Amino acid sequence: MVDEIECYEKAGKIVSQVRSDATKLIKNGLEILELVEFVETEIKNKGAGIAFPCNVSVNEITAHYTSPAGDKSKLVTGDLVKLDLGAEVNGYIADSAVTIMVPGDNLEELFDEDTLELNQRIIDASAAGLDAAISTVKAGVTVGEIGAAIGEAIESYGLNPVRNLTGHSLEHWNLHAGISVPNYDNHDSTVLEEGQAVAIEPFATNGEGIVNDCPNAYIFSFIQQRPFRMKHTQKVLNHIEKNYNSLPFSGRWLTEDFNERRVNTSLKQLGDAMAIYPYAALKERTGAWVSQKEHTMIVEKDGCNITTL
Ligand code: CO
Repeated sequence: MVDEIECYEKAGKIVSQVRSDATKLIKNGLEILELVEFVETEIKNKGAGIAFPCNVSVNEITAHYTSPAGDKSKLVTGDLVKLDLGAEVNGYIADSAVTIMVPGDNLEELFDEDTLELNQRIIDASAAGLDAAISTVKAGVTVGEIGAAIGEAIESYGLNPVRNLTGHSLEHWNLHAGISVPNYDNHDSTVLEEGQAVAIEPFATNGEGIVNDCPNAYIFSFIQQRPFRMKHTQKVLNHIEKNYNSLPFSGRWLTEDFNERRVNTSLKQLGDAMAIYPYAALKERTGAWVSQKEHTMIVEKDGCNITTL
């Protein structure tokens, strides 16, 4: 018998270590592809599996961006970089995110004082939202009450929480297990119970606090097997079902086994046929910049055990 809590804690320690090492790499000119590959390689080197492709979402891009194969995009001084990573140990998941302002000696030349203050405040607000959530979490609390604590904390910074993104419960091999933890008071009376694992992830912005889909998806998950006349598409789907039948995967990973252009055509067909689900990259509706902070925790009688600290 594997000890569930031990696995959650081991996955959490790995995520926390990789998060901290990856954060130190962030600088002007760093390719996003290099950052996501570092994170994914380190998770495996430390003996865990990758729970989902490493997300690196910059500025108004709020979530669900991971590098496609050959991505040339680079981080720039002053960017707000949301690094969101996940590891699993025997199927028990740790999910954590942090926001970094890309450092640089010329920050003061690139941005006026008010903008720098605002961007730092955006970072601080999601962190305060997460702290407020953590002090609220215990067995018996409703997710609406947690959302209220997050929303109030973020609003006290003069900013808005993102209302159409939520935290989520975690189960064995299941990243989004059914319970959603809102980032504002939505009056949801779903109660958290002792022993449940949840990832709580407040997002803060000076924009409206609503995200929309971007045209492109880089992260996908398997839904169901289906028959395809195109042999290549069937082969890609069989490969996905065999390797990624429970947790999300990156289009980039498939280019290790398939031609990049052909795999993209197949992914499009698989999405259209609802054999896979494409997670579009998400962008703040008004184009305002966004921060995110996230920890995974296990609900306890009088509080919680944060696995990703
Ligand atoms: Co999450």
